[in-house]
Amino acid sequence: MINRLTTLNRHIIEEERRIPGATGQLSDLLGDIALACKVVSLEVNKAGLIDILGLTGDENVQGEEVKKLDVYANETLKNIMRIGGHACALCSEEEETFVPIDEVYSDYSHKYIVHFDPLDGSSNIDANISIGTIFSIYKRLSISGPGTIEDCLQHGYKQVAAGYVVYGSSTIMVYTAGRGVHGFTLDPAIGEFFISYNNLMIPKKSKTYSVNEGNYAKWSKGMQNYIDYLKQFDKETGRPYSSRYVGSLVADFHRNLLYGGIFLYPADGKNKNGKLRLMYEANPLAFLVEQAGGLAIDGKNRILDIHPSSLHQRTPLIIGSYEDVLIAKKFLEKD
Ligand code: AHG
Ligand code: MN
Ligand code: MN
Repeated sequence: MINRLTTLNRHIIEEERRIPGATGQLSDLLGDIALACKVVSLEVNKAGLIDILGLTGDENVQGEEVKKLDVYANETLKNIMRIGGHACALCSEEEETFVPIDEVYSDYSHKYIVHFDPLDGSSNIDANISIGTIFSIYKRLSISGPGTIEDCLQHGYKQVAAGYVVYGSSTIMVYTAGRGVHGFTLDPAIGEFFISYNNLMIPKKSKTYSVNEGNYAKWSKGMQNYIDYLKQFDKETGRPYSSRYVGSLVADFHRNLLYGGIFLYPADGKNKNGKLRLMYEANPLAFLVEQAGGLAIDGKNRILDIHPSSLHQRTPLIIGSYEDVLIAKKFLEKD
């Protein structure tokens, strides 16, 4: 039974109990991720106080600057999940390739693969703007031993669970294990996540779009026409739309999930596959949005159907309210 005092851990366990033959390992793994995110949340809140800001001087595998908090979040998630013993491979945006985990670390069958973006929106850290962690969980295909690259490169529709944590005005964790989308708010005083959104559904149609419009000149004609369309007056279709863009995908997505909206990071003249990563960003959010009644496409195809060929693969992403994504698709298909 759900009530105001339902904690994240209790909810996860009750959800898994409904699945015939479940062993409780997925609950434990989600619990490990929640624990890691609580540790990261604490560090994010301290970031303005201690001398942690600034660059390490390193670059991640995408050739972008890495800030200290990215490294911290990555190490924290990796260490806690390794000790937890339920994952046979970890794939992170901040790692060159996947991290295989041997059975010696586990008393269990360590049957899961976890993909994660340890810190999303990291360019916003210094400005005290919301950032987050995104994660995605698959079952291994191989039978035993450390996970393999084939285990790690599965289609998005094979995810068994996914979610994110936003470090914002409060810390909120949102997850799905394939039975709806649920959100929990962290009480920092006692370190416990309490349910705040049960069975979240994204409004079918919205009045908000989220896009980096500075890229307008680089977009395809179809993309330009769609954004022009959203700005025109038309009472019947609720136009013009409002524009909201934080620049942290996780924060833009969370707002759109609650209030309705469409987020777009399309391909452009320079970046043929857009900017966002299929495995760490697009797939987990696509699983969540579909569970909430929304839609996620790359312009033409469903995100969850994309065949992954490399861990750091990028994809255009159009995600959010169902009807808005369908309208965008009509414009983009003409390209
Ligand atoms: P990350 O911090 O993990 O590298 O992700 C940044 C991403 C995403 O959070 C955001 O939506 C997008 O970059 C913003 O890109 P632009 O600055 O090009 O708009
Ligand atoms: Mn990111
Ligand atoms: Mn990141």
